[in-house]
Amino acid sequence: MPTELRLRPRRIRMAVKIAPSVLSADFGRIAEQIADVERNGASYVHLDVMDGRFVPNITWGPKVIADLRKRTSLVFDCHLMIVEPERYVDRFRDAGAEIITFHLEATTQAHRLLEHIRSTGAKSGISISPQTPVAMLEDLAGDFDLALVMSVNPGFGGQRFIPHALEKLRETKALRERSGATFEIEVDGGITLDNVRGAAEAGADVIVIGSAIFDTPDCGRATKQFRELLDGAASR
Ligand code: DX5
Ligand code: ZN
Repeated sequence: MPTELRLRPRRIRMAVKIAPSVLSADFGRIAEQIADVERNGASYVHLDVMDGRFVPNITWGPKVIADLRKRTSLVFDCHLMIVEPERYVDRFRDAGAEIITFHLEATTQAHRLLEHIRSTGAKSGISISPQTPVAMLEDLAGDFDLALVMSVNPGFGGQRFIPHALEKLRETKALRERSGATFEIEVDGGITLDNVRGAAEAGADVIVIGSAIFDTPDCGRATKQFRELLDGAASR
């Protein structure tokens, strides 16, 4: 390892990805806003699908995702907050979702579903809500490409970050090391300029940011601020 890196062990690695959640976007200007976040350092577009059953809120289905797909080349990171996700995965895949994440709590067929998602050519993701321990992922560790640690209760944007999620990110990272798996670790909910570095330091490789990007006057500028903070540029 080069000396320069050894001397700065707490520096956040460059590879941390930003995944703006369009849940908080202005859908009247959605294509423009996605282009803005893309220009300013976003890697994924995070698409929250809610059914009013798994969570007390309803968003959109595959048609909206298929329409957005034509407007950007960013990776589509689809977060299904729906019961019986196995019934809908193919439709979201056909609409252009490239990472498909479902909730462990929403199905009795997690292993089968992870295999199925991979068989469609998508990356498979599994998410745990705040009440679910990381240990529940242990026996599936080689079977998913992304672990999504919820840092709020799923359902709404703009909630406060639950600090215990930091410990869960560390545990998820330890699970990855122990198991030899290579999945990405994603954190979702309540991320702000004040806690984003802490989440990255705890192990998040992908950071979902909704209201702190889109509930600002300039979503491109906000994305850039997060990007600079994660890259360490702001502290140089
Ligand atoms: C909440 C969603 C999140 C949400 C995050 O259930 O999964 O993706 O959009 O929004 P903020 O960043 O505002 O907490
Ligand atoms: Zn989400």
